[in-house]
Amino acid sequence: MDFNRPNLQKARKRTDKSIDIINFKLDDKYKDLGLNKKYNVITFGCQGNEADSEVMSGILEMMGFTHSEKEDADVLIINTCAIRENAEDRFYGTVGGLKALKQKKKDMIICICGCMAQEEKTITKILEKYPQIDVVFGTHNIHMLPEYIYKQMETNKRVIEVYSEEGNIIEKLPHIRLSNKKAWVNIMFGCDEFCTYCIVPYTRGKERSRRPQEIIREVEDLVKNGYLEVTLLGQNVNAYGKDFKDIDYTFSNLLLDLSDTGIKRIRYTTSHPRDLDEATMKAMQRENIMPHLHLPVQSGSNAVLKKMNRKYTHEEYLEKIKRLKELNPGISITTDIIVAFPTETEEDFLETLKLCEEVDYEGAFTFIYSPREGTPAAKYENNITDEEAHRRLDILHDKINAGYLKGNKRFEGKIVKVLVDGTSKNDPNTLCGYSEHNKLVNFKGNVNAIGTIVNVKITEAKTWFLIGEQVE
Ligand code: SAH
Ligand code: SF4
Ligand code: F3S
Repeated sequence: MDFNRPNLQKARKRTDKSIDIINFKLDDKYKDLGLNKKYNVITFGCQGNEADSEVMSGILEMMGFTHSEKEDADVLIINTCAIRENAEDRFYGTVGGLKALKQKKKDMIICICGCMAQEEKTITKILEKYPQIDVVFGTHNIHMLPEYIYKQMETNKRVIEVYSEEGNIIEKLPHIRLSNKKAWVNIMFGCDEFCTYCIVPYTRGKERSRRPQEIIREVEDLVKNGYLEVTLLGQNVNAYGKDFKDIDYTFSNLLLDLSDTGIKRIRYTTSHPRDLDEATMKAMQRENIMPHLHLPVQSGSNAVLKKMNRKYTHEEYLEKIKRLKELNPGISITTDIIVAFPTETEEDFLETLKLCEEVDYEGAFTFIYSPREGTPAAKYENNITDEEAHRRLDILHDKINAGYLKGNKRFEGKIVKVLVDGTSKNDPNTLCGYSEHNKLVNFKGNVNAIGTIVNVKITEAKTWFLIGEQVE
């Protein structure tokens, strides 16, 4: 069979080739392909994948498909994540479970996309063991979904097309967003950091920024349509604009221009500590840029940071935090930490714990290092046992949980602004939403408040959420 296979080593290359900006347009021949048919998308991984899934839903609805439960879907898409081994295991568990469904519903088209599709080893495994998968495409060609579905329907043969090039930018994409108040907005794609443990620069291609006017237009449209919050997405948003050759326009410029659109709340993720600059910290003083920063540190040990290719030291990181707090008093800071990176000693780990105290994190995503085939760290000698890795993770959890509670406690007795998402999962009489500092708040209030921003008086702080009452 003739198809385009991915190649991780090819995906590693970075050139000066200029980026093409392609405007998406649905070809007439695909317009009715989905009439009387249904679709569903299962999403693993980060917000980048969630945003991509919203785009694929948008494309499918343009083709006439309507959304359904996965059991009833004629087209089922699984958007995968390759960041750690357990993400990959979860995907294989899900696909295994689809075998029976496919036997019952023979016409169902199962599509795989996302970061795992960019890895050769996934393609090999699919070819060998998973005949139930009909279409495979990667992170660079989701806009070609209509063509792949068409081809599969016409020929009833497997379609596999994954590109390993650096990637282009596709504009004018449709979205079916999960929320009508909060939106993801991609501001850039790819990553050029090459942290030694990480697969993302291989699966997402080179760093490339959307043009400011495209992003501003998207946010202006969201404001017109009643959206209250945007989260700007990129693997390293602080590198935004560094790839522009014709204009001098960086992340802080974008933040200020987006703040001027009048959107009520702007958040962004993820920041790389090395590229976080003073201008961005100052831009965060704007009222509609939320007082929360997720600033992944990964480790507190300089030796480990060096091995990870993070390009900053413990001290430099702390210096940035200090300045950030000076400019934005009360800001909430969260992070990502990896334990048991190869070569991490007990002393290195203690440095990480020390840093947690110095920064006063109010939350963190913590992970045990997972070797990723094709990355430099996968070749490092690793003699940390699973047991030891879990011991470190448990100790870190205790430290981080204490930070969560302390960060929540400071709001007891205070009034906070909450964007109300809906009723609480566990109690339909309770409303829930997030405060400006990104704290989950469960509170007694009026159901009419759903979809608006209201004042809530905090009566009690728990580790994972705040409890309160709506005030006028
Ligand atoms: N671009 C973002 C996040 C990328 S992935 C950033 O740099 O902050 C999210 C988190 O997954 C990372 O911050 C890191 O903590 C974790 N991660 C990435 N690769 C990993 C690996 N191989 N093993 C364990 N955790 C990993
Ligand atoms: Fe991965 Fe590092 Fe890029 Fe984040 S900055 S996506 S951790 S390579
Ligand atoms: Fe996973 Fe790819 Fe996102 S590896 S974390 S889905 S960039």
